[in-house]
Amino acid sequence: MKDYKRILVTAALPYANGPVHIGHMAGVYVPADIYVRYQRARKRDIRFVCGSDEHGVPITIRAMKEGVTPEQIVDKYHAIIKGSFEQMGISFDIYSRTSNKVHHETAAAFFKKLYDDGLFEEKETEQFYDEKAKTFLADRYITGTCPVCSNPNAYGDQCEKCGSALSPEQLINPRSTLSDAIPVKKKTRHWYFPLQHYEAWLREWILEGHKEWKNNVYGQCRSWLDNGLQSRAMTRDSNWGIKVPLPDAEGKVLYVWFDAPIGYISATKELTEYWADYWCKEDTKLVHFIGKDNIVFHCIIFPAMLKAHKGFILPDNVPANEFLNIEGDKVSTSRNWAVWVDEYLKDFPGCEDVLRYVLCANAPETKDNDFTWKDFQDRNNSELASIFGNFVNRTWVLMHKLCGSKVPKLHEDILDDDDKWLIKEIERSKLNVEGCIEEYKFRDGLYEVIDLSRKGNQYMQKKEPWKKASQPGVDIQQSIVNQKLIDNCLHLCLQLTANLAILANPFLPNTAKKMLHMMKVVDKILDWENAGKLKLLSVGYSLRAPELLFRKIEDEEIRFQVEKLKNGLVDNSNNQSRSLSGPNSSTDSNRSEPNSYRDVNPKSEISYDDFAKLDLRIGTVMACEKVQKTDKLLKLTIDLGGESRTIVSGIALHYQAEDMIGKQVVVVVNLAPRKMKGIESQGMILTAEDKDGKLRLLRPEEAVNPGSSVS
Ligand code: 2FM
Ligand code: ZN
Repeated sequence: MKDYKRILVTAALPYANGPVHIGHMAGVYVPADIYVRYQRARKRDIRFVCGSDEHGVPITIRAMKEGVTPEQIVDKYHAIIKGSFEQMGISFDIYSRTSNKVHHETAAAFFKKLYDDGLFEEKETEQFYDEKAKTFLADRYITGTCPVCSNPNAYGDQCEKCGSALSPEQLINPRSTLSDAIPVKKKTRHWYFPLQHYEAWLREWILEGHKEWKNNVYGQCRSWLDNGLQSRAMTRDSNWGIKVPLPDAEGKVLYVWFDAPIGYISATKELTEYWADYWCKEDTKLVHFIGKDNIVFHCIIFPAMLKAHKGFILPDNVPANEFLNIEGDKVSTSRNWAVWVDEYLKDFPGCEDVLRYVLCANAPETKDNDFTWKDFQDRNNSELASIFGNFVNRTWVLMHKLCGSKVPKLHEDILDDDDKWLIKEIERSKLNVEGCIEEYKFRDGLYEVIDLSRKGNQYMQKKEPWKKASQPGVDIQQSIVNQKLIDNCLHLCLQLTANLAILANPFLPNTAKKMLHMMKVVDKILDWENAGKLKLLSVGYSLRAPELLFRKIEDEEIRFQVEKLKNGLVDNSNNQSRSLSGPNSSTDSNRSEPNSYRDVNPKSEISYDDFAKLDLRIGTVMACEKVQKTDKLLKLTIDLGGESRTIVSGIALHYQAEDMIGKQVVVVVNLAPRKMKGIESQGMILTAEDKDGKLRLLRPEEAVNPGSSVS
């Protein structure tokens, strides 16, 4: 591998004619951001550039349809898109826009240089024109009847019903989609870039020189090259775009796919006065993150333009992803079959990392993939919350309870095989995660991170430190040994948590930040060189209370999203009315009516003395597991302040065992013990039962000392 001094990462410039959806995030921005955050943690000299693609026909058409100017369209969507990226933690060094002056100048100068070097062919051709809308029509904007299957809504480039590739001349009864006028042929003059002159060089550069590119990228390039390249018009007839910098070019602008990739250069110029280091020095690694529909532009056309211009480096890699479908169907913005990021952020505040997680875990890296809301919920509840969040939470709860809220010592003299295994796993994970990210295999990298937390849970479950806490009757020697075993377990789990923060940081930056806060450490600890090490948290250092890293996502929220998608409720112009019927709304028809308590099993009056016989205490759940061969029972180990009790409770249909750890509950401690499924239950925890039978725990409003009495 080449020894690079600096890295420049670009992410495809989204068109500013609509908000971004989760397909864009999964395909381009989340992977690019993971890569960049990881490289920053490695202290590499890296820049990350992007911006809005504000030219092109779709923008003028959207403006025409909405009766506004193209400027108004791009201003509106540039702001929405930029806001979505910021909230999702996509950490661009600059998010620019192609309407900026520096970009107009850069792109025009690029064109002029190719022109002056005599590299364009000037040609006059006949193209379809809409006399009503007074504009030339791209093939896509002409519809008519398919000559093959008679579909009356075929497009000028393709019939979506029978799949035939078409040209507008083949359509029967062609019509403009803009005005319904019959298109007419009109002469026009344009500048063409002869791609075929670069074919031999491209074959050598890609097919021989970049065999390491992803199969989907390499394969698409080979098929373009095998089919033979042709001249492409690099200008268009329009008033919206970068004016062709030549005399006699009134009404002509640069083709959007000529100017957009140059936007990467302009954005770098805006970012730093050293922009030329990133674009012209051979020891810079240039990486373009894109979706598969952009492969030809980034691997063939833009490199040929750079080569023709001279003086620029070429991409080292173009890790394009395939597409993300939704609930089994292709994303379609016109049918509103999409999950828009700005809407997600409103519906799931604080769950940015959950979306990053799901989109990465399910990324279309090698083939198209499917996003479903059920999978989103499962991955949050069963992976992020139940594995990762649960490990961190139980480590924190036990450290506070069993180690005086401080990092305990590691007694190296008594390390056993399980401890040594965990230490090895910590070291191994670091190497695995970095290997995956360097090779653009982000799904595998993320899996490694979750797997490490899974191993933390296994280790904790095996060690059961809560069982070693001092009990009355244990002799002093034994309790010293027990405390050392607790120390070792919690020491390693805490160091593992610090490692998880470092490894998760590129993928889940908000979560890593919360973990830093709990550990009371500064960002510096996230430097990649710290990963794989054991001495990240100093012995004796006191740590904060645990924070909830991932909340549970409820069935109701998922049902709402599926309904919203299916009913086409995804309406960006009317967010307010949409959210009124959202899952958190007070008008939600599923909300339970208050019960009249007299309707539900009323009991006869008791005296105060009767009530006073109850000994109610607050306890903290230290461990919890499902009772085997039952649906409803959980076995809980509850700390009551110097005493721990086993309690069997019928709440398994309402709470997952992992979610119980760390929770405070109200316990009836003087209830006579009784056996349930062979386990002696030494008390009872209190719950409230809703009208529909749902059980909810009674809990103190704020954490109190275990053993506190309830009255
Ligand atoms: O496909 C798109 O959304 C384009 N706007 C991507 C442009 S990428 C680059 F070349 F700017
Ligand atoms: Zn057809």
